[in-house]
Amino acid sequence: MTTYYAHRGASTMCPENTMAAFRQALREKADGIEIDVQLSKDGEAVVIHDETVDRTTNGTGAVKDLTVLELKQLDAGSWYNQACKDETIPLLEEVLKWIARTDLMLNIELKTDREPYPGIEQVVIDAVKRHDLGERVVLSSFNLETLRRVREISSSASIAVLVWDNVDGIVKCARHLGAEAIHARPGFMHTAESLRAEAAGLPIRLYTVNEPEDLQGIAPGFVDAVFTDSPARLRKALGDTAG
Ligand code: G3P
Ligand code: MG
Repeated sequence: MTTYYAHRGASTMCPENTMAAFRQALREKADGIEIDVQLSKDGEAVVIHDETVDRTTNGTGAVKDLTVLELKQLDAGSWYNQACKDETIPLLEEVLKWIARTDLMLNIELKTDREPYPGIEQVVIDAVKRHDLGERVVLSSFNLETLRRVREISSSASIAVLVWDNVDGIVKCARHLGAEAIHARPGFMHTAESLRAEAAGLPIRLYTVNEPEDLQGIAPGFVDAVFTDSPARLRKALGDTAG
């Protein structure tokens, strides 16, 4: 039994990072959802994976150059399926309000690996606080400077360090930040750093796991959680019973 986070929501069944995908995650009995957050031109936290709106909406341009009003006019569903044409880019506020009515956990990934989005840490921390969701929210980022600022602003925020492939010293760094976990790709489990994480009692959560084979050679006990595009399908494939 592991914890299942729906990656960008249940993004196989619905357009990623939309309310439809989050509702689908709930229906699929995911334990939590993972969302990506960027800042609009007017400094609002919005939920979208890419730095531009080009791939997942009918618009063009950088998120940072568009106001919330402009972003909200975009169709964030048709690219996936015409039936989803009414989906819009969710505001972080909307997602938090919805999460508060569920018992889902929430992983907010601060997408500052390409755009610095000055002030995003404060915006996100304030929003989580307003909704009193600190106990259910974990903030993650590939950008260690972002996580350092999160820790500076809030000594109690739950932090997870995201790792792509440059893992040297990451466990030390995670401990220094007071991180609660490392979010890594399955290949991380075959590195010396994973043993260090285990020795340090640092849980490892793996992204993105869609097939049982993605966990090949990894002892189930060493994985605290998985991020998957298809929570129900993966749970079934792993022979896990819904929690
Ligand atoms: O947070 C885990 C995973 O979402 C990181 O990669 O590109 O899907 O945001 P990406
Ligand atoms: Mg992400």
